[in-house]
Amino acid sequence: MTINKTIPVNGKVRSTFPKIMELRKQPKSIAIQNYLIEKLEPERYNHVLSVQETAVALAMLHNADVQKVSLAALLHDVVKWMSDEQLYAAVSQYKIELDPIEKNMPALLHAIVGVKHAIDLFEITDLDILEAIRCHTTGNTSMGTIAKLIYVADFVEPTRDYIEAAQVRKIAEKDLNQAVHHVALSKIKFLLQKGSIIHPNTIHTYNSTLATITEKNNMLSKIN
Ligand SMILES: [Fe+2]
Ligand SMILES: [Fe+2]
Repeated sequence: MTINKTIPVNGKVRSTFPKIMELRKQPKSIAIQNYLIEKLEPERYNHVLSVQETAVALAMLHNADVQKVSLAALLHDVVKWMSDEQLYAAVSQYKIELDPIEKNMPALLHAIVGVKHAIDLFEITDLDILEAIRCHTTGNTSMGTIAKLIYVADFVEPTRDYIEAAQVRKIAEKDLNQAVHHVALSKIKFLLQKGSIIHPNTIHTYNSTLATITEKNNMLSKIN
């Protein structure tokens, strides 16, 4: 895909091009990219690169670890090539305990199996990276900065064509917790409209970020 040479952040334009190219030339990144090129459909691979570009740009803005963010972004959909049957077989092979909702929602399984693949195939042991892969679909109340960046970047990356993507991206440039809240809110609205089951972690993510935002607003109103 054509990489964004400049990504506007906070009203300024910061070039992420050299940093992205440097990250993509690292041996572990090359191994992951080669695997993804072989396994994923081109459209999915483009999405992964776009998540990486977005997550790295936001990480630079929020002073997060770009190395971790880059690897987490490259790996977040690492088993998205698997069919539902293959995902359930992998769950069984890895002896993963699913909760009742996960058992009935194969769309959630690629995040769970992806963690095992990242460990087995690419020797990823960093807990921040593994958490980001694990939480990127439903979110979680305990998400650290790397996981939040991937959760948001997966939703707002520029190839996403829904209107909320651009809106939440602007929010993410200023306030990562607000962005996480809006991603959870958008996912809940979407799932309600579809009449789908909503995983509790998505609702917990919505509630916990709302509490953080309310607390922050209350503090600000006391100061002003
Ligand atoms: Fe995913
Ligand atoms: Fe994704």
